[in-house]
Amino acid sequence: MNQVYEKLTGCYSSIRSRIDFVPQVAIVLGSGLGDYGKEIRVEAELSYAEIDGFPVSTVPGHAGKFIFGFVGETKVVCMQGRVHYYEGYPISDVVLPARLMKMLGAKILVLTNASGGINPSFAAGDFMMLTDHISLFAPNPLVGPNIEELGTRFPDMTSVYDGELQEILARTAKENGIELKKGIYAQLTGPSFESPAEIRLLHQLGADAVGMSTVVEAIAANHMGMRICGISCVCNLAAGISPNPLTHEEVQEAARIAAPQFKQLLTQSVIKFGERCL
Ligand code: HPA
Repeated sequence: MNQVYEKLTGCYSSIRSRIDFVPQVAIVLGSGLGDYGKEIRVEAELSYAEIDGFPVSTVPGHAGKFIFGFVGETKVVCMQGRVHYYEGYPISDVVLPARLMKMLGAKILVLTNASGGINPSFAAGDFMMLTDHISLFAPNPLVGPNIEELGTRFPDMTSVYDGELQEILARTAKENGIELKKGIYAQLTGPSFESPAEIRLLHQLGADAVGMSTVVEAIAANHMGMRICGISCVCNLAAGISPNPLTHEEVQEAARIAAPQFKQLLTQSVIKFGERCL
């Protein structure tokens, strides 16, 4: 059997031997949303370290576990802590959790992250709904023998971010008085922040925000036929746009301040996803 698929099915069996909860919506929490678990009526929790073969994150503030439970009536599985490519994991490990959540039953994937703002109309603290992405700078997680059990060799990428989910996000933001920008997210590998010249290049390519996650997960989930949406918290202006040097602490602080509105948008949207999209 393909080694990547073998690892995935091993993780699946390891979870299923303990938890029979079948989620409808999978949520990946980005920086600053780590305590979103408090918004969930928890049915079960499983720390990543308990799952045989699961990649465990090393970044401070990214403690890792799956939370299974309800947001409103929607059955969710939530990743508290994600795995980043810059930690040194093979890209197949980085996307393993997204694939696993689909195998567990989730049909919708909500990706959240912290990003640097490139669009000159963006300010720190803004929220941006992903309408598309640029993945040219991160390795493609589908490289290698195609895993036929998961999807096709050459998946279409015309509309990775689901139109109906985007509509619901936009409407929900409006109803809750939250401003939601739209834009294109570029993933670079990190862990260094970008140089000002790289940000100018990304701007010319049409990117509105930049970060170190999300796109590879979206590619793997799209391969498996998940309906995907993404929300980014623009935590700082990108290098060269911001007058100050960038720090991880600044990003975390901005994410912390934005967290209450981010949670509200996420909760209200996930409730509607459950009601209308499943
Ligand atoms: N660049 C890349 N990743 C980020 C940034 C940034 O400016 N801010 C938060 N995550």
